[in-house]
Amino acid sequence: MQNQAAAEDNDWNILKLLQWTTTYFTSRSVENPRAAAEILLASVLQLERVDLYVRHDLPLSADELGRFKELIRRRVAGEPVAYIVGKREFWSMDFTVTPAVLIPRPETECLVEAALRHLEDLPEGQNVLELGTGCGAVILALAARKPQHCFYASDLSGEALGVAYQNACRHALEKNVRFFCGSWLDPVQNRCARFEMIVSNPPYIRRSSIDNLQVEIRRFEPLMALDGGEDGLRSLEEIIGSAAGSLKAGGRLLLEIGHDQKQALEAIINRIGGYEDVNFIKDYSGHDRVVALRNKIGPA
Ligand SMILES: C[S@@+](CC[C@H](N)C(=O)[O-])C[C@H]1O[C@@H](n2cnc3c(N)ncnc32)[C@H](O)[C@@H]1O
Repeated sequence: MQNQAAAEDNDWNILKLLQWTTTYFTSRSVENPRAAAEILLASVLQLERVDLYVRHDLPLSADELGRFKELIRRRVAGEPVAYIVGKREFWSMDFTVTPAVLIPRPETECLVEAALRHLEDLPEGQNVLELGTGCGAVILALAARKPQHCFYASDLSGEALGVAYQNACRHALEKNVRFFCGSWLDPVQNRCARFEMIVSNPPYIRRSSIDNLQVEIRRFEPLMALDGGEDGLRSLEEIIGSAAGSLKAGGRLLLEIGHDQKQALEAIINRIGGYEDVNFIKDYSGHDRVVALRNKIGPA
């Protein structure tokens, strides 16, 4: 079947289109072809994905077919599904995403889980900060689950913060999180009390590896969210070096890391000093994904 046929044939229903698009995406090496077809078609028809199956024989209008065809074209050109439809699910919550923010990844839920475990037994009113919040998925997942605490988030990108604030409103959490623009801890220092916990998923990809990433990532996601400097460790090192001064005594720093960065980070943590109880936590694929550190300095 020709690509154009989809827009010309008035006999197209949901199921036939899903089958055709899945085959076409597969032939063009698009990742997760069936899921991509479903998400794009659901977006055009303004349906939930599950409704595509409930209404599988619904015919599409010429206008709907035309719009769907345009989304297919964008996906085949490499644009991520989340940017095309403008949203991504994380921690069972929908987040608006634009090309100004990294698309939240499933492995980052490991950071959220570790943070929630730590917050579990603490009295209410703890200060929790996220550095490099992007679309706000991490801090908003925490704020949704633990509304009894006080949440703060920073990012160097004002545009990303705009998206994060939009997401806070989307989940009625705009009163639970305060957003700051600036580099890592700079905008919060001297403006907030010390934190019980600081979490971050900073850029940690080695600069020389960025050209080898999938086209979806290297051409469409913001470089500022990916580039960890020559060795991939620049932001992690900067945060480890400065966070202790903003944490309470015994407060935790939780960082998402690259799967191959454990050894290098152990060396950095030892060299910088000031932390204890250093734990590496694995994600569901068995990769070291989060490092959790306990601050041993600061006032009692
Ligand atoms: C890997 S993304 C993480 C986004 C989001 N927290 C997540 O986990 O999906 C890193 C974020 O750090 C931000 N960033 C980069 N350099 C920064 C800096 N010097 N200070 C603050 N934020 C920075 C980027 O704009 C980006 O939003």
